[in-house]
Amino acid sequence: MIALVTGANRGLGRDTALALARRGAKVVVTHRGDAEGAAEVERAVKESGGDAFSSRLDISDVGSFQAFAAGLTRELQDRWGTGTFDVLVNNAGIGVFGALEHVTVEDFDALVGTNFRGTFFLIQALAPHLADSGRIVNVTTSLTRHVSPGTSVYAASKAAVEAMSRSLASELGARGIRINSIAPGPTATDFNGGAMRDDPDLRGTLAAQTALGRVGRPEEIGDAIAAVVSDDLRWLTAERIEVSGGALL
Ligand SMILES: NC(=O)c1ccc[n+]([C@@H]2O[C@H](COP(=O)([O-])OP(=O)(O)OC[C@H]3O[C@@H](n4cnc5c(N)ncnc54)[C@H](OP(=O)(O)O)[C@@H]3O)[C@@H](O)[C@H]2O)c1
Repeated sequence: MIALVTGANRGLGRDTALALARRGAKVVVTHRGDAEGAAEVERAVKESGGDAFSSRLDISDVGSFQAFAAGLTRELQDRWGTGTFDVLVNNAGIGVFGALEHVTVEDFDALVGTNFRGTFFLIQALAPHLADSGRIVNVTTSLTRHVSPGTSVYAASKAAVEAMSRSLASELGARGIRINSIAPGPTATDFNGGAMRDDPDLRGTLAAQTALGRVGRPEEIGDAIAAVVSDDLRWLTAERIEVSGGALL
């Protein structure tokens, strides 16, 4: 199995790359510009007995996707003797938060441009190179189900991805490709300035709103994504699976 994870240089993408590698996947670690972080993930994969290479990809730069796809297939062929891959994890994303009156057009365009537009056109560019019976996982958010003030555009950008995923499941199903959304709840990463990890008050509030009584750990999202792409869940497509420890039930 060959998996490509976007934004795999840190956070949930990093742990997803490692979780997939532990299950035997070869991993393409993409990063926006943090070559050092990506190289560290590549090293960790290799130390665990797997194989990986890293590649630069800015998901807001839709115009670069065709060249990226061409370079990817060349590199897959050179390294692993195949022009196709099996799993695409659309993890890269940004969070910009603010109340209605504070959201700027730039914030709006950045959120939609990265989280939705980037994800859609990357799937369009890479689908021809995804093996039949491949899997796509889009990382969304528990905020598409429950509400928190100041998250309207962020949540909408991810809700668009969930709607798109269901629709594409019917298009790509003819090739046996499964596509699902994983919707994490608050998880301790650098996201939102690291607030879920580093702000004890916020962490306590979020933990109290969660059935399992704490915020998530990045490896728990990585393991969930690895489970979704496994053959055990081969009949699962067009679903949104929330991985939030039971946030705001
Ligand atoms: N942590 C949470 O509580 C949480 C909850 C729900 C959903 N999520 C979602 O989970 C995903 C990963 O978040 P995280 O917690 O790992 O956050 P993070 O630590 O902030 O990491 C975000 C990742 O996305 C990458 N990225 C952002 N914009 C990009 C672009 N234009 N092109 C390529 N890569 C880009 C970042 O690259 P750089 O290192 O270059 O910035 C980084 O690798 C995001 O889609 C986020 O919306 C997170």
